[in-house]
Amino acid sequence: MSPPIGSARPADPWGDGPLLPRGWRPDREEPADGDGHRWMVVDPAGHLRLTDGTDITLRPFLPGDGDLLVAAFARLSKQSRYRRFLSPVPRLTDSMLAFLTAVDGLHHRAFGALVDEPAGPIGAGVMRWVRTDADPVVADLAITVIDDYQGRGLGGLLLDVAVLDGMAHGLDRFEGLVLGENISSRRMLARGGATLRPDGGGVFAYRLPLRPRIEALQGSPLPALVAALARRSGIPAGGLAAARRVAP
Ligand SMILES: CC(C)(COP(=O)(O)OP(=O)(O)OC[C@H]1O[C@@H](n2cnc3c(N)ncnc32)[C@H](O)[C@@H]1OP(=O)(O)O)[C@@H](O)C(=O)NCCC(=O)NCCS
Repeated sequence: MSPPIGSARPADPWGDGPLLPRGWRPDREEPADGDGHRWMVVDPAGHLRLTDGTDITLRPFLPGDGDLLVAAFARLSKQSRYRRFLSPVPRLTDSMLAFLTAVDGLHHRAFGALVDEPAGPIGAGVMRWVRTDADPVVADLAITVIDDYQGRGLGGLLLDVAVLDGMAHGLDRFEGLVLGENISSRRMLARGGATLRPDGGGVFAYRLPLRPRIEALQGSPLPALVAALARRSGIPAGGLAAARRVAP
């Protein structure tokens, strides 16, 4: 029976948000193959192809990559910016840019996915993780794919890159917040093995343990590729022991 008009709705923390987001494509919901990968490795230099045919180049994000970040931010819709930063961000301030480029190879690491467009390469997506002060085996994770390249499997790929890179640098899990209405992010995280719980205010807290996803990635060429790209980048490698030495 429907509740009388004007009566308080029963609290349903899972019920917030639209049933389907704008632009949702039911035909993109099914992964292209059984293990959910929507990409193939083309060569060991970091070239991959998404199943829709988009060619990307994966590589570690370097402190000098600020221009790529600024150009990619300009291609993010208001909604994507809001979803990424959980608040309106009309422009990238100098302090945000300084933080986002402050990758140090140990506490703060990032990988970008570049696409060659007619006007030149564009940063189509980036994943970054930042070790928490409270526990060096836990990191905040952020993944952003610019609107033109969303829904092609790039977010899922970057999540797996984050898992592999995080594990190689002594992390045990990612923890963070995601908007309840951000269904593609929730799906991406859940496919990576995250558990999510409502945290109030339309936000979900998630926890993503790395080891089970690492096991699921065994047999894929991605672990060797990510390790090789990280080695070649010149960003110093670090492990948990090093993190513990440096962490306050
Ligand atoms: C969240 C985000 C990173 C996902 O990137 P993406 O490249 O679109 O991700 P994928 O293509 O791998 O899709 C992720 C999931 O959403 C689904 N999805 C994404 N867009 C979809 C669409 N338009 N229609 C149907 N399904 C869609 C995919 O099927 C996939 O689910 P599955 O793994 O169960 O199959 C991207 O949307 C984004 O950058 N958003 C703005 C910033 C943000 O929200 N960041 C995350 C919070 S930190």
